[in-house]
Amino acid sequence: MRELKILAVVTFFSVLIYILVEPFAHSQMHKHVEGHNFTYTGEADIAEASDEKKAVKEKFWSEVKTIASLKGDATAGEAGFGMCMGCHNGANMNMGGAIPPNLDHAGAIYDKNYLIALIKDPAMASNVDHKYADTMMHPMGSVSSMFTDDQSIADVVAYLLEKKAGEVTPKEAYKEACVRCHAMRYANLTQLGETPKFKHEKDALAHKIKVIDEQDAVKAYMGKLPPDLSMIIRARSESFLETFVENPQSQFPGTSMPRVGLSAEGYEKVKAYLTEIGDPSKPERERLGPWVLGFFIIFSILAFLWKKEKWRGHH
Ligand code: HEC
Ligand code: HEC
Repeated sequence: MRELKILAVVTFFSVLIYILVEPFAHSQMHKHVEGHNFTYTGEADIAEASDEKKAVKEKFWSEVKTIASLKGDATAGEAGFGMCMGCHNGANMNMGGAIPPNLDHAGAIYDKNYLIALIKDPAMASNVDHKYADTMMHPMGSVSSMFTDDQSIADVVAYLLEKKAGEVTPKEAYKEACVRCHAMRYANLTQLGETPKFKHEKDALAHKIKVIDEQDAVKAYMGKLPPDLSMIIRARSESFLETFVENPQSQFPGTSMPRVGLSAEGYEKVKAYLTEIGDPSKPERERLGPWVLGFFIIFSILAFLWKKEKWRGHH
């Protein structure tokens, strides 16, 4: 009976710590950030903006809403898309800070409102306008001068949503949305994409130098080299990652990471890739979990019965 009392006391305090103290400490150390399920209405941007910026942002996001309500014509949008291809051409060349990503699945991984906002004004859409005196200085800033009327923006976005969508793998989503800034060592990815196998050491070294040059350019653009994301899925909680990717400013005010504008589906793909690389044993663990618990329960019952049997008649 004494053991049972000790067990009860230990259990009581463990449960107390688990359900009260730990969450309290956690809530003190990490501020809670509300997610918006990867929809982009500018609500959070307007709320966070300084008084002088508020009106500008309200106007911007209400114009985005107006364009979103127009019916876009994908056929007409194809010609407009040609202008995007001037930069997004797969040449893997740094353009004013980063390599313009491949847009093959842009319609599948990005949110529609976000795409509209991005073409209207990339710095404003990415919530990094505070970094630029004039948002034309953003490396993609010149698009806003190419698409000056609402209908042409609606058309090119319709083109992306219809023709540049389709099935996208977790790896493609990561490469299109994140790799131009974030390497992933464990997946053999650098800011230049996949590292090929080289026969000659000289070629491998030449590639290494290209990677270092690219990293220097990204570093100059962002102020620091964005971290390798191989293990981020273990280092950060699920809710941190979601709210951070949705709006980096909400977690690190003033950060240079731009909002990337993923849709909920796009984020699921990226998260699947972060998990596949950073925590490959997760599916196995989830499959084994119930069996391990079952084993402990059965084992405890057997141990208890065995003890009862052994101690019978000792009183
Ligand atoms: C002047 C070159 C240029 C043009 C023209 C251009 N882009 Fe970009 N784009 C870039 C660069 C550079 C980046 C990467 C910027 C960054 O990550 O900060 C980028 C990023 C993007 C992204 C990723 C967005 C994000 O926030 O992560 C999308 C989507 C995109 N562009 C779509 C388009 C579309 C659609 C068009 C045509 C309507 C277009 N771009 C025209 C240079 C350009
Ligand atoms: C244009 C460059 C750029 C792109 C694209 C980008 N990031 Fe970042 N990211 C950064 C920078 C810069 C930082 C460092 C921010 C800081 O410390 O203020 C960062 C930091 C992060 C962090 C925080 C790491 C930590 O815990 O300190 C996470 C998580 C992250 N990025 C995830 C992503 C994901 C996922 C994507 C793709 C969906 C992505 N990023 C796309 C530039 C980028």
